[in-house]
Amino acid sequence: MGKRMTFSRADLPEGFVFGTATSAYQIEGHRFGGAGPTHWDSFAATPGNVVRAEDGATACDHYHRWEEDLDLVRDANFDAYRFSTSWARVMPDGRTVNPEGLDFYDRLVDGMLERGIKPALTLYHWELPSDLSDRGGWTNADMPGWFGDFAEVVARRIGDRVWSVAPINEMWCVAWLSHFLGEHAPGLRDVRAAARAVHHVLASHGRAVEALRGAGVANVGAVCNFEDSRPADASAGAAEAAARYHAIYNLLFLQPLTGGGYPDLVLEGIGAHLPRGWEGDMKAIAAPLDWFGVNYYTRRNIAPNDGPWPHLHDVPGRLERTAMGWEIWPQGLKATLELVAGHVDVPIYVTENGMAAPDEVHRGEVRDPARIDFLNRHVDCARAAMDAGVDLRGYFVWSLLDNYEWALGYEKRFGLVHVDFESLERTPKTSWHAMRDALRRTP
Ligand code: NOJ
Repeated sequence: MGKRMTFSRADLPEGFVFGTATSAYQIEGHRFGGAGPTHWDSFAATPGNVVRAEDGATACDHYHRWEEDLDLVRDANFDAYRFSTSWARVMPDGRTVNPEGLDFYDRLVDGMLERGIKPALTLYHWELPSDLSDRGGWTNADMPGWFGDFAEVVARRIGDRVWSVAPINEMWCVAWLSHFLGEHAPGLRDVRAAARAVHHVLASHGRAVEALRGAGVANVGAVCNFEDSRPADASAGAAEAAARYHAIYNLLFLQPLTGGGYPDLVLEGIGAHLPRGWEGDMKAIAAPLDWFGVNYYTRRNIAPNDGPWPHLHDVPGRLERTAMGWEIWPQGLKATLELVAGHVDVPIYVTENGMAAPDEVHRGEVRDPARIDFLNRHVDCARAAMDAGVDLRGYFVWSLLDNYEWALGYEKRFGLVHVDFESLERTPKTSWHAMRDALRRTP
């Protein structure tokens, strides 16, 4: 495994965007700047939900160190920085504006522009104001209206300067992982809540797209997560289970967003629980977009079982894994990009790709050759997808910094830059240096 990237900027078409990504709650330090409580704070404070009950109260203290962090984005020669606005920082109760919160994002966006970095905004990356979650959060039919108002407030303040906007990061996680599988806030395992959350998340996306367009914001897209799901063996049962998993994980949001409606294999499980009149929202949900974002990390091997719907479980594969236990499967990125390209007719971006490793500082250096290898192999597969005709326009590494990895706390390090969570000191890893060299602009 090398110390260098095997690609350089010159290998990609002119204008291809290289970026890196973070999100508000994972890096900012939620206790600063008058932000309101969120469902992630109470979820983390509930015993058993999060490793060591860690939360985002301090995180990377990006709220105070944002200039240093933006310098790290610029100095690695990235073109773009994908960040999110915390709803509870902008509107602590979800409805009333906190000027200090909006001021922060205003400074941050100007800071990117001053450094020649394109601001790629995500409005919502998972921390819901507690006042709204106390009213049922994503299960409440009022959410699209509330979210549309939040989108408009942000758009009116920074919408003139951002390069792109996606309303909601990884809708599957917001709805399914959080309301059906119970692994993220609010931690429900309830099919009816999940069905409502799925629909209200999509309707909220649609409402936000409308609000953003109304405020004159250009380059509006969506960001979904994908896994290359495959049967664990050659049996017919495994093929059917993998098809159900694929429908739930990969198609549940992609299909409605692109006008294809809910997949039949998912309606089997949730159809009876969707909110009354849901069909009437499908047109607004499929509002035209300017681009589509793909978050890709791994594959999943699926076997059937005789448990309740969807009658499946995943089995460990034989490939090398990251610190998350996720198999390293770059070919799946090509397959995913081709899948998405079959549904959309707009430019595609890889909005997240990266890996966690147990990185440590030794004599001022952090060596992470496995990450360099991972990124090389995935960029190769992204290029192979482009050769096969996919209109891919950019690639974002998750993440700039080691940060708060949700239910897994601070232990899983995804950063190109190491963060010491005691001193909050930043140390660029070998992968950061390798990216900087690969992305150098030749005059
Ligand atoms: C998906 C999410 O968008 C991000 O918040 C998370 O940290 C990474 N993937 C890694 O799990």
